[in-house]
Formats: sequence, C-alpha cells, structure tokens
Amino acid sequence: KRETAPVYYDEQSGSWHVFRYDDVQRALSEYATFSSHMGGDDASGTGQLFSSSLIATDPPRHRQLRSLVTQAFTPKAVDALAPRIAGLTDELLEGIADRGSADLIKELAYPLPVIVISELMGIPPQDRERFKRWSDVIVSQTRTGSASENHTAAHMEMTEYFLALIDERRSRPGQDLISTLLAAEIDGQKLTVPELLGFCALLLVAGNETTTNLIGNAVLCLSENPGTMDRLIREPALLPQTIEEVLRFRSPVQSMYRMAVAETALGDEVIPAGAPVVAWIGSANRDERQFQRPAEFDIDRGQNRHLAFGHGVHFCLGAPLARLEARIALEALLSRLPGLSLDQEARLERMESTIVYGLKALPVT
Ligand code: HEM
Repeated sequence: KRETAPVYYDEQSGSWHVFRYDDVQRALSEYATFSSHMGGDDASGTGQLFSSSLIATDPPRHRQLRSLVTQAFTPKAVDALAPRIAGLTDELLEGIADRGSADLIKELAYPLPVIVISELMGIPPQDRERFKRWSDVIVSQTRTGSASENHTAAHMEMTEYFLALIDERRSRPGQDLISTLLAAEIDGQKLTVPELLGFCALLLVAGNETTTNLIGNAVLCLSENPGTMDRLIREPALLPQTIEEVLRFRSPVQSMYRMAVAETALGDEVIPAGAPVVAWIGSANRDERQFQRPAEFDIDRGQNRHLAFGHGVHFCLGAPLARLEARIALEALLSRLPGLSLDQEARLERMESTIVYGLKALPVT
C-alpha cells in the first residue's frame, strides 16, 4: 500500500491508514490536527484504562502529566539502573549456557523488563507473574479492537490490584514511582484516582511487551545475519547502532492511533474531522523515500531516523530504559552464549497482534 495507496481509507473499520514516512511523522506529532485523545473507549481497544493517561491526552494537559515522571526516565536516572539490570540479566541467564537450549523470550526477554519496571513502581516480587497475564491479554485483544470477557476480567483485576496498592502507598510512601505520583500536584491539584490508575497501567503495558520484543527481534535479526553477530562479539561497542537498526527493521510497535480533529489533507486524500487514523510506524521505517535499501538489515547506516519510539511530544518516555535493557541483555547473550543459534527445527510464531511485532517464543541452542 505504501506505493499505491499511501493514505488509505478502510471501509470496514472506518479508519484511515497512513503508510509513508513523512505522513506517519505528521500524524504522530501534529497533535492539534491528529489528537491522541480517543474518547472513553478508544479505537485501539485498550479502553478506559488508558483514557486519562498521558499517552491519550493532548497538550497542555499532556505536558503537565509527563513532567511528573520525566525525572525517573532521563538517561542519567536510567543509567543508574545499569548495575541492577546487569545483575538481573546474569541471574536470568544462569544455567542456560550449561543446559545448551532455552526459550530466550521466556527466560530473558520477557522477565527482564517486567522486573525492572515492577521494581521502579514498587510492586512486590510475588505479584509479577500476574502482570504477565494481564498485560498479555490486554495487548493481544488490541488486535480485534473489541473487549472480550477475558479482556474485561483482566482490566478489572488489574484495576483492583492497583487501587489496593495506591491505598497502601498513600499510608506508607516509599521511593517508588507510585509514591512519587501520589505526592505530585499540577496547579495545586493532586492526580485523580483514574489518572493514577491510567499511569500505572500505561507504565506496565507500554514498557514490557515492547522491550521483550525488541530483545527478541534483535536475536532474530542477528541469527539471520551471522556476519553482524560475529562483528558484535568482537566489537560490542557497535551494539547501540545495532539496536537502532533492529528498532527500524523490526519495529516492536507497528502502529499508533490518532483521531483527526479537523478535516485535513494528507497525501492526496482529505481525512474528515472525527475519523480514526492509524499511523503505520512499521511501514514508515521501511519507506525508501527515507531509507536507502530499506529491506536490508544494515547496522552501518549513518543516519537512522526511525520512528520506532514515535515522534514529537509523545516520543517514548521509556526509550532510554528500553535501549539500556536491550544493550545489557544482548551484550550478556553474546559474551555468554557466543555460539547462539536459533533452533532450526522450531517454527517461529509471531504474536497475534497488528500493533505489537514480536515472536511468541525464541528457541535457541
Ligand atoms: C510512548 C514505543 C518501551 C513508556 C511510546 C510511543 C511509542 C513507543 C511508539 C509513542 C506513542 C504515541 O505516539 O502515541 C516503545 C518501544 C519500546 C518502548 C518500541 C521498546 C522497545 C517503553 C518503556 C517504557 C515506555 C520501557 C516505560 C517504562 C512509554 C510511555 C509512553 C510511550 C509512558 C507515552 C509517552 C507520552 O504519551 O508522552 N512508546 N516504547 N515505553 N512509551 Fe514506549
């Protein structure tokens, strides 16, 4: 579609799909025209949980909400987590080298970001498993855009859990993000309970699945490019640019929703006011107008202005953390399992989602 119908109206869903780099960049960043506020039950199916969180608000409210948490996610604050992330990675990888085979999603790429964000939020270790279930259900349902019984139950359980946790932190504040949010004020006003809930859910869901898939997609890209893998084993300093290329080539978040606020010309089309718009990040990141030889995985691209973390005011808050986790995880994998290769017998299955791009499992030997 990027060539023949770069801005495409899908009659069935009633939404507009945007595929070219420049148009996707506009849809993501021109918030006065393309709003992130989707109403109570947004078209991406994530529903009310996120409707008052920063990902679903426009400036000026958006800026106020975001300023409450930016401190916790600056590159400097995130760098301070490096020793803990490295320690966790070592713990998770322990034993894999001796055993000779593993599912790297299950044993490393999934648990690592969950543990890191849970610790930042002050969630007790024994509750982590439950988050996997909730966030899995929520992410997989975004595919259909409608809420199933499972989906509703997961939302309810997660909401109840956070309500209890918020209450507890109110009476016994700590150093965690939930306590920070409870203490925060915007123009003398505390955050409301729905706003607090939206924040918690967003941090969990936005940061987990995505980072898991970045690590998983990176292993897949490297096993398809053994020359690059060998280079990285000798020269781990090339990892940051490798991670950027994985983000471009196999973008963990493939699409984001917006709502056209007013009638707007985009490409050769006119999008009417009130129409849902889907900005295809995955397609923009392979647009030949922006990238030379876009279908090639090439870590030596000088400039790599991919849109994998979005663009503009909503640019991913967790980008420094995701990059750091991916770098530490990959560095550990390459040094501890240098002979790493995908299990050739196994069929690789993609997750069932049009939004999130990643593998269900990554069996290696
Ligand atoms: C926003 C992707 C990891 C938290 C975004 C957006 C994208 C994205 C595309 C923009 C959404 C929009 O424009 O509507 C990714 C990818 C990740 C990742 C690909 C991993 C590889 C994380 C992590 C966290 C996080 C680790 C938190 C711990 C957020 C938050 C927002 C956001 C809070 C909303 C920011 C705002 O609306 O101002 N992310 N993300 N993300 N991300 Fe990430």
